Amino acid sequence: MSPSEKPPSLTPLFTRDEIALRVRALGDAINRDYAGQTLTAIGILKGSFLFLADLVRVLNIPVAIDFIQTSSYGDATESSGEVRILRDFEGSLAGRHVLLVEDIIDTGLTLNYLWDLIEARRPASVAIAAMFVKEGKQRLNHPIRYAGFALVGDPFIVGYGMDYRGLYRNLDHVAALELEETR
Ligand code: IMP
Ligand code: MG
Repeated sequence: MSPSEKPPSLTPLFTRDEIALRVRALGDAINRDYAGQTLTAIGILKGSFLFLADLVRVLNIPVAIDFIQTSSYGDATESSGEVRILRDFEGSLAGRHVLLVEDIIDTGLTLNYLWDLIEARRPASVAIAAMFVKEGKQRLNHPIRYAGFALVGDPFIVGYGMDYRGLYRNLDHVAALELEETR
């Protein structure tokens, strides 16, 4: 941030405790749905790192963990619609039950792309878990089996893994970010 630039304002939206309760509920559902099976959880970096870490610690089924990294928005707050893979997951997904773990779904374009990429590798099943889902701009072609919180009114949120210009990922809660110039 340049010295002349005003810091963005942050309005708390979800507390650490609210998030933890919701993650526990999602984990319970996953434990029930995949009982007797082995799960492969694939976190979409970077934003999903805290959600994935919390979610897998609720699980009592065998779970393999991997990551995939897609290109970010850069410094913009809107999706470009173009998805680039910066880091691919390791090994084969053939016959595996894959759970794609995403911090937030906005347009859904990232997940549309990743779903096809994963399907091409012949998994036994694919499902999506997302901690936050923006309503309104959704163009996702697949069901969100495990959704944390719905967001209305298109806020840009940070914290719990999510960033603005690389910052705020470490917040233990989630806040709406408002830029000075838009006020
Ligand atoms: P989509 O492809 O439009 O669904 O964008 C999904 C990705 O954009 C998410 O994985 C986030 O990394 C990022 N993103 C979307 N909305 C927000 C937001 O409000 N705050 C921070 N990152 C966001
Ligand atoms: Mg993400």
